Amino acid sequence: MAAAADRPMRRAALIGNPVDHSRSPAMHNAAFAALGIDASYELWPTEPDGLPARFAEIRDDGLLGANVTVPYKLDVMPLCDRITETASRVGAVNTIIPRDGELIGDNTDAYGFATSVRETTGGLGVAARRGVVLGAGGASRAIVVALHDLGAQEIVIANRTLARAEEIARSLAQQGIVGVSAIALDDLDAGTIAATGIVVNATSVGWHDDSLPLDAGLIAALPVDALVADLTYRETALLRAAASAGLATLDGYGMLLHQGVRAFELWTGIAPPVEVMRRAMLAG
Ligand code: ATR
Repeated sequence: MAAAADRPMRRAALIGNPVDHSRSPAMHNAAFAALGIDASYELWPTEPDGLPARFAEIRDDGLLGANVTVPYKLDVMPLCDRITETASRVGAVNTIIPRDGELIGDNTDAYGFATSVRETTGGLGVAARRGVVLGAGGASRAIVVALHDLGAQEIVIANRTLARAEEIARSLAQQGIVGVSAIALDDLDAGTIAATGIVVNATSVGWHDDSLPLDAGLIAALPVDALVADLTYRETALLRAAASAGLATLDGYGMLLHQGVRAFELWTGIAPPVEVMRRAMLAG
């Protein structure tokens, strides 16, 4: 057997564009170090026409695994040899697992969000209640799947462009996820909001601005035990307004952490130290 020093360092990588602000290297490298695994997580900024070469590199170099982020979570699907049931429910791939000569496309985003909600509420606020998801873009479908997995009785997707919300509801129904309906964001009213256990902002509103993705009056109409979640990594106007109304809030760090924890487990077969990863992620 080769001595440890002779064995090549294993690699994992993040494919996306841009990737330079990602906290995934800090998080995964901290877990590798804590577990004594000789591996390194790298950033692979990639142009669209560079995706096939990246996949060739994953195969040839025997990578431990890869993550995929914006804007390639859909584009990589045909490049994988197999798509897991989870990834096909979410309709996107964020994790690539090399196994037995195959590249498996999986998705850990829904797990990441569901685990983050459970951490905050024990899942109690969501089970058997209504969930409202604002937005029907890239992030929305994983959130709907997560709310379904948490046992939400009914999920309403409210989007500025109604047709996009309807498309997600239709596609999920085909996959056996029923109880998902679509409305126009402007039609979201206090009646719908009043019976809601969780509202999740999956729009791009709040990432780089200080506006609210829904009417301030609707935040006030939420039940006192509702959870308001935003997928952003900052204290948005929505989270501030919810906290002022006395509601529990959740930002996007928990989802980022737990999607990474699950990806790490899938690549290595080892449950990583979650708090080590959380500290490294928050330190940036
Ligand atoms: P995409 O998937 O289109 O590339 P995204 O960032 O994943 O982009 O999704 C953006 C989401 O934020 C969409 O749901 C978008 O609504 P539309 O489908 O109507 O475009 C939503 N969004 C963006 N700006 C918004 C705004 N000012 N008000 C409300 N929703 C907005």
